[in-house]
Amino acid sequence: MTHHLPNPAGLQQALPSGAALLHDPLLNKGTAFTLAERHALGLEGLLPPHVHTLEEQVARVMDNYRNKQTDLERYIHLVSLQDRNETLFYRVVVDHIEELMPIIYTPTVGQACQQWGHLFRRPRGLYVSWRDRGRIAALLRNWPHGDVRVIVVTDGERILGLGDQGVGGMGIPVGKLSLYTACAGIDPARTLPVMLDVGTENEGYLRDPLYMGLRQKRVRGPDFDAFVGEFIEAVREVMPRALIQFEDFANLNAFRLLEQWREKVCTFNDDIQGTAAVTLAGLYSAQRLTGKKLREQTILFLGAGEAGVGIGELIVSAMIEEGATPEEARRRCWFVDSQGLVVRSRKGMAAHKLRFAHDAAPAPDLLSALEALAPTAIVGVSTVARAFNRPVIEAMARVNDRPIVFALSNPTSKSECTAEEAYGWSGGRAVFASGSPFPPCAVGGKTFVPGQGNNSYIFPGVGLGVVACQARHVTDRMFAAAARTLAELVEPSDLAMGRIYPSLTRIREVSARIGVAVAEVAFRDGLAGIERPADVPALVRGAMWTPEYPVYV
Ligand code: NAI
Repeated sequence: MTHHLPNPAGLQQALPSGAALLHDPLLNKGTAFTLAERHALGLEGLLPPHVHTLEEQVARVMDNYRNKQTDLERYIHLVSLQDRNETLFYRVVVDHIEELMPIIYTPTVGQACQQWGHLFRRPRGLYVSWRDRGRIAALLRNWPHGDVRVIVVTDGERILGLGDQGVGGMGIPVGKLSLYTACAGIDPARTLPVMLDVGTENEGYLRDPLYMGLRQKRVRGPDFDAFVGEFIEAVREVMPRALIQFEDFANLNAFRLLEQWREKVCTFNDDIQGTAAVTLAGLYSAQRLTGKKLREQTILFLGAGEAGVGIGELIVSAMIEEGATPEEARRRCWFVDSQGLVVRSRKGMAAHKLRFAHDAAPAPDLLSALEALAPTAIVGVSTVARAFNRPVIEAMARVNDRPIVFALSNPTSKSECTAEEAYGWSGGRAVFASGSPFPPCAVGGKTFVPGQGNNSYIFPGVGLGVVACQARHVTDRMFAAAARTLAELVEPSDLAMGRIYPSLTRIREVSARIGVAVAEVAFRDGLAGIERPADVPALVRGAMWTPEYPVYV
């Protein structure tokens, strides 16, 4: 008798049996296969006799996990589990999200990317290299799962704040898609991580015999754009319902690709738009502590790249919604980059900075810009560790009762300051958030729980909303709605601890609420691919996959 796997689309798919079933990570239940299933599916003898519950399996995984000596070993342990049994992997991650997120995502994933070729065990996702140009659609057809709904794609050129990681950048799409599933319940069988390998400038990798990518310098210019274009067209043809999230491309390509494709396909860039939304949400929460409206803030960014400019643009549109004119709003956002304050008189500036280049006297560095502008908030997106040093934080604390200090560079080693430094040097008055997590710290007899301005508060929920209503495009209005929703979910008890984001333990609720907000924008703006149902929250919750074992027999 052939057994069939029920799936959400109601289609019947033949269920493999015996060893093939144990080796299919999407179907495997390991020691949790019941005796009836073992009998019917040819598994007898292939498993030890006792049948475990999912909860017992979770306890075993966590026991092993906590015995590991390093974070990288913990990462390998979890990824290997994901390769064997995805349901168990996601149950473990969902139940221990605060503990495990820093391992499957920043900061540990950064280390994994740096050692990709050395750690490699099993491939996951799709590797599309420059050698495959002209036949990318054929590669997409090799992907074994139908109806892909979310793709995360990178070319590995700007991985976190670690620079060019070449093909090792694949760790990021893999990690982000794990978060789509864990945080927002996107069905793992409908996700696809993609690495576009066009070479690397990283000499260390080019010399490393274990490096797994093309051994050539990066393809640039029109050839690169044509290659990315072929990939997007191939997705359109082979996986027409997929949302494409661009991830960790260098800023010289990221802005252009976003502009080129955002109106044509269903796509967004998380470094630009997701970061912007999570930071805007942080500023909305900070408003409840500082008593100042967003449009009354003066924000000084360190770093004028994808993250910084993306945040600046979303803040400008939010200030305009609060009643500011476009000119007023832009004058409230200032940038310092590696050459000092971004001002109009500067020559040869990259296009993405021009809209924030104000008429003002040049300032050579952050401290002099800070003294000239007296900002209410500083936002670090520079990849420069310790750039928010004692004089900077003290200067902020001199001009503000509650200085806002967001040190967003990742991983932890690149953070502009630590939580302890921000609270300590400001006499416990800073409103602080970081990109990578910091543990709670005690300053002046008070314990602070620092918030993490983590994009995973935003992108999984945005993706969920887009998938649920089959949105044709992803718009800035959706990200603005996501930011407002996230800020609304911050409780007074969070703020009392200094935390300007909700606890990560509530992430599935947060994502569901953001999903609803995003779908509502899509319905309102005529971008949804389906009719608006009466109950949008039910639509969104119905689209969420939960890590529970199916009963096969
Ligand atoms: P990017 O490469 O586009 O921009 C970096 C910017 O920093 C450039 O404008 C550069 O001129 C500037 N910079 C470099 N050295 C500097 C110096 N010495 N002084 C002042 N400015 C300097 O990179 P992107 O995408 O903007 O990312 C920046 C950082 O933000 C990364 O560490 C990334 O991991 C982090 N990030 C954090 C997120 C979060 O926590 N939610 C999300 C996205 C990015």
